[in-house]
Amino acid sequence: MATILPIASGKGGVGKTVFTANLGAALAGMGKTVIAVDLDLGGANLHTAMGVRNKHPGVGSIIWKKEKRLEDLVVPTEQDRLYLVPGDNLLPGTANLDFFTKKRIMKELHELTADFVLLDLGAGASYNIIDFWLMVGNGLLVTAPEIPAILNAYSFFKTAAFRLLFRSFKRGSEERDRIVDYVINRVEGQGKTFVEFAAEMAAQYGPSGEKALQELSALHPRVVVNMGNGGNDAAIAMRLREISARNLGISMDYIAYIMRDPLVSPSVSARQLILHSNPDCAFARGVSTAAERIRAAPEGQMPRLELDDEDLYTLMERVLNEEPEESDPDAVFMHSSDQGL
Ligand SMILES: Nc1ncnc2c1ncn2[C@@H]1O[C@H](COP(=O)(O)OP(=O)(O)OP(=O)(O)O)[C@@H](O)[C@H]1O
Ligand SMILES: [Mg+2]
Repeated sequence: MATILPIASGKGGVGKTVFTANLGAALAGMGKTVIAVDLDLGGANLHTAMGVRNKHPGVGSIIWKKEKRLEDLVVPTEQDRLYLVPGDNLLPGTANLDFFTKKRIMKELHELTADFVLLDLGAGASYNIIDFWLMVGNGLLVTAPEIPAILNAYSFFKTAAFRLLFRSFKRGSEERDRIVDYVINRVEGQGKTFVEFAAEMAAQYGPSGEKALQELSALHPRVVVNMGNGGNDAAIAMRLREISARNLGISMDYIAYIMRDPLVSPSVSARQLILHSNPDCAFARGVSTAAERIRAAPEGQMPRLELDDEDLYTLMERVLNEEPEESDPDAVFMHSSDQGL
C-alpha cells in the first residue's frame, strides 16, 4: 500500500505546492513511484508547479461526476515515475465536498498504486483539510520561520488535536460537551496539556476515549521550514516545538530547512520543476534532504520525548555551512544572516 504524505500549512503562500511538486520529483528520482494529488480545492495549481497543462479532469470531476474514480484521473508528467492527479480547475467543487465524497476520496487514495501519494492541501485549518491531514499521524506541515506563520502552524496542530479527540465521541454526547468546555475555558500556557486532558477522558469514558488517546499520542507531525533566511530562524522555529509540547503535549520532527531562493519563482513561472531547471540550487538541496529523510523512514521517526532541537540545528548547519558557489550571483543573498526578524 502507498505511503500517504499529506502536506498542509497553517498560513497560505508558504510554499506547499512548490515543495510538494519537487518532493515528488526527488522521490521519483530515487526510484520511487509517486502520485501527487492536488487537494487544494478551489485553489488548485499543483499542475503548474509540475509542468502539466491544465486540460485534464481532476478531483473536481469526482465531486461532480460521481462515477469517476481517482485512479482514472492519474496523468503522467515529464519525469518517469512521477504522476499527478489534478485538482478542480476544470470543475471547481470545494463547497460540495460532503462527508461521503471525502470518505470515498480517502479510500481511493489508499488504493492508488504507488510508493508515495503526496497530498497538496489548501492553506488553513478547515475541517476538510484537517481530515485529509489526519489520514496519517505524521503529516507534513510547511511553515515559514516567521512569527505569524509559526503561530498559524501551532493553531493548525491545536485544531487537528481537537478534531481528533472530538470526532471520537458521539454527536451530542456528554464527552463532546466536556471537550468544548475544556477548549473554551483553558488559558494558553497553563494547566494540563491537551494529551493529559485526553488521558483523563480515556480514564473516565472507556474505549472511545482510549482510542482517541492512542491516536493523539501517535500524532507526530513532520515540519518543513521553508523560505529560511538564516539569522533567527532556529529560535523562531523552536517556538513551535516549545508551544506545541507545552500546551498540547505533541512532539514533532523537523525534516527540512529550505532557504529562500530567488531561483524558485522564475522556475514556477516557466512551469518547470526546480529540481529539473536548477538541480543544485538551495531550494532543490533542501527538498532533496526532506526526500532522503522520508525515503529512510517513510513512516517517520519515533516520537521525540524531550525538547531537543538537534534535528533542526543539523538541518540548518547543513544548509548554512555549504560554501556558496562562485558562479552563483545570488549566493550572498541566500547566505545572508543579517535578515533576522
Ligand atoms: N524557498 C523559496 N524561496 C523563494 N520563493 C519561494 C520559496 N518557496 C516558495 N516560494 C514562492 O512562494 C510563492 C508561494 O508558493 P506556493 O504556491 O508553493 O505556496 P502555497 O503554500 O502552496 O500557497 P497556497 O497557500 O496559496 O496554496 C510562489 O510564488 C513560490 O514561487
Ligand atoms: Mg498551494
